[in-house]
Amino acid sequence: MSEEVIKVVGGNPIRGTIKIEGAKNSVLKLMAASIIAPGEYSITNVPMISDVGIMADVLRTLGAVVELGDHCARIDTTNLTSFETPYELVAKMRASISVLGPLLARFGKAKVAMPGGCRIGTRKLDMHIASLEALGVVFDSEHGYIYGAVEGGLVGNEVELAFPSVGATENLIMAAVVAKGTTIIENAAREPEICDLANFLNKMGADISGAGTPVITINGVEEMHATDHRVVGDRIEAGTYLIAGALGGGPLTVEGVDPNNLRRPLAILEKMGVHVEEGPNSITVSHEGAFKPYDIQTLPFPGFPTDLQAQFMVLSILADGHSIITENVFENRFMFADEITRMGADVRVDGHHAVIEGVEQLSGAPVQSSDLRGGAALVLAGLVADGETTVSNIEHIDRGYEDYVGKLRSVGADIKREFV
Ligand code: EPZ
Repeated sequence: MSEEVIKVVGGNPIRGTIKIEGAKNSVLKLMAASIIAPGEYSITNVPMISDVGIMADVLRTLGAVVELGDHCARIDTTNLTSFETPYELVAKMRASISVLGPLLARFGKAKVAMPGGCRIGTRKLDMHIASLEALGVVFDSEHGYIYGAVEGGLVGNEVELAFPSVGATENLIMAAVVAKGTTIIENAAREPEICDLANFLNKMGADISGAGTPVITINGVEEMHATDHRVVGDRIEAGTYLIAGALGGGPLTVEGVDPNNLRRPLAILEKMGVHVEEGPNSITVSHEGAFKPYDIQTLPFPGFPTDLQAQFMVLSILADGHSIITENVFENRFMFADEITRMGADVRVDGHHAVIEGVEQLSGAPVQSSDLRGGAALVLAGLVADGETTVSNIEHIDRGYEDYVGKLRSVGADIKREFV
């Protein structure tokens, strides 16, 4: 059976302007949050990516009416008929677990298939469960499903997260908004997508303060209602294209992203010799010659984002010297490093560290995408490799990047999708 691949021939200058879409890692949670209060929601600046389609299907299995199109999601959750998400959808997308908090808020019970492990690690749910138990939820798990129920309604509590988990913070917030009393989350995740979710929930009538800081306070409310919202720009999509501009010389501008959401990556780009200019809602990069090596450690926000680790590794691989990239957030997020050696990169993975010796040039080769960000990074490497690179398993890339090939072609890349 034929397979669709991405073919890219390296060497073209990369310059121009790319419009950034709404953040995948916000919109999926906003869609889940529409479960909390019955009504009609209109969410704009929605990226047209396959993960959004899966979340729409999850909501439809619960009884919601969802219309997607033209970067907008219209969701009607007036008549939900179920509190159970099927395995086949959760297996496709771990983010489906984000319906857990909203279902508990709406129905006081939830039955969610346990997401399988994924390519970047086991990605447990212990912090999700422990946090919600603190609000009175009793969990049971059997036959691959988690079943949670709370008799007499959710009750606010103080919860300290062992690790600032993005998903656990979000599920806890989405349950706490209608709990009796106040919930205080200590060591909360601080990602910009958490702030976007809190803004959305407050527009629905919630009472949340402190989002974006390590301590988030939620005063439970009686009533919430539907609302409209524009999704925050996707900092990871933007960072990915900034790397393309640095690799291809630029100047390349990304429009529709707040530079404050990329502080650490922009600082590291400058340390590596890339010229960075900022606008209120745009960033422009340009570069010539070799990159300066710079050690990178991934950390929860505001640290360097793990979702840009593979993309930045392409710069390190072409830097003029030795550098180390340390992955502190996921336990197995170096598959890209293994694959990129096929293109001539000198990367040695040692546990949580990738030890990199810069090389002059990469050579195009057939390579396989094994996860969303690694796949995007393989294409970035192909932009500057000698000859043609063919990237397969590109369904991973389509999960999180709208028209990745079209956007790169629009700034000069010799790139196409092809069935082989
Ligand atoms: C979100 O995943 C993002 N996904 C990820 O983006 C991102 O890499 C991650 O946050 C960190 O920023 C979405 O928002 C849909 P975590 P999430 O809970 O919520 C461990 C991409 O490429 N952990 O902060 O799953 C977990 O195993 C994706 O867009 C537990 O041990 O991330 C991981 O090692 C990839 N127990 C670490 O914490 C738990 O209960 C961070 O996970 C929860 C998490």
